[in-house]
Amino acid sequence: MLSPPEDVIATWTVFKNVSNITNMLELGSYLGGGLGIFNQLLHQAGHNGVQFVGVDHLDFIGAGARNRPGAWYTDHFNKCLSPEEQTTLKNLNTADEAANWIKERTLRLTGTPINLVCVKTEKELSDQQYDVIHHDYGDGVDENLRTIRHCLPKLKDTGIYIVDDWCTGAPLRTVATVIAQQEGLLHPFLWAKNKVFYAKNPARAQELVNAILKDPDNNPKLFKGMPGSEYFGSNYKTIRMHWQAIQWS
Ligand SMILES: C[S@@+](CC[C@H](N)C(=O)[O-])C[C@H]1O[C@@H](n2cnc3c(N)ncnc32)[C@H](O)[C@@H]1O
Repeated sequence: MLSPPEDVIATWTVFKNVSNITNMLELGSYLGGGLGIFNQLLHQAGHNGVQFVGVDHLDFIGAGARNRPGAWYTDHFNKCLSPEEQTTLKNLNTADEAANWIKERTLRLTGTPINLVCVKTEKELSDQQYDVIHHDYGDGVDENLRTIRHCLPKLKDTGIYIVDDWCTGAPLRTVATVIAQQEGLLHPFLWAKNKVFYAKNPARAQELVNAILKDPDNNPKLFKGMPGSEYFGSNYKTIRMHWQAIQWS
């Protein structure tokens, strides 16, 4: 997540309307930008000392970046990382090294320490139950559905499943979430810009919608009821970020 401000506001709005977030899983920890921002938002929303777990196979960055031309991502690295960070990134081989690199960078850039453990694959995850899961990798429909099916049982019944790049960023991930919704796995409650927020059951989704709409900090010009949400069930409500509040240029 190199998140647009719209998604940062949406995430904060959700976090402040949920009690007791203690564990969060990020599927795709990459440069840790998302972890750093989530960590700050959780602190600001009153959830302190959250334990994060990040999953990243490091084939795309770190060790894998050493011999890759990756022109686009070279530009990307130049924009996101200092020359020193680019050098140290190339020496990351293990999940522990990645976790330490992200922890140091998060503290340096945000001033907020992060509790983080990293693993390289979903299969290495324990039976830990999470309050929040952020799904930020996967190209094909089957690949994304596999991740949803594997990780959703690790989400608490009251938990929140955030799918990133729900747009042209990851079109087949979007298709996978539609199938997961039809299979009764994911229940949408908030459509932000690139992120969509789901609950594990309809009752929890509606509880969160009502809490956000009642929140005096919520600006109804930014977040409002999404017409047509009865598609998901009688009287079912979802919230969308108003298109006029989104910067598309
Ligand atoms: C879009 S990036 C994540 C960005 C990250 N959330 C951030 O804010 O910096 C996706 C990452 O997922 C990793 N990845 C992709 N598929 C994976 C898989 N099946 N298992 C583990 N890691 C994977 C890639 O190495 C890549 O770093």
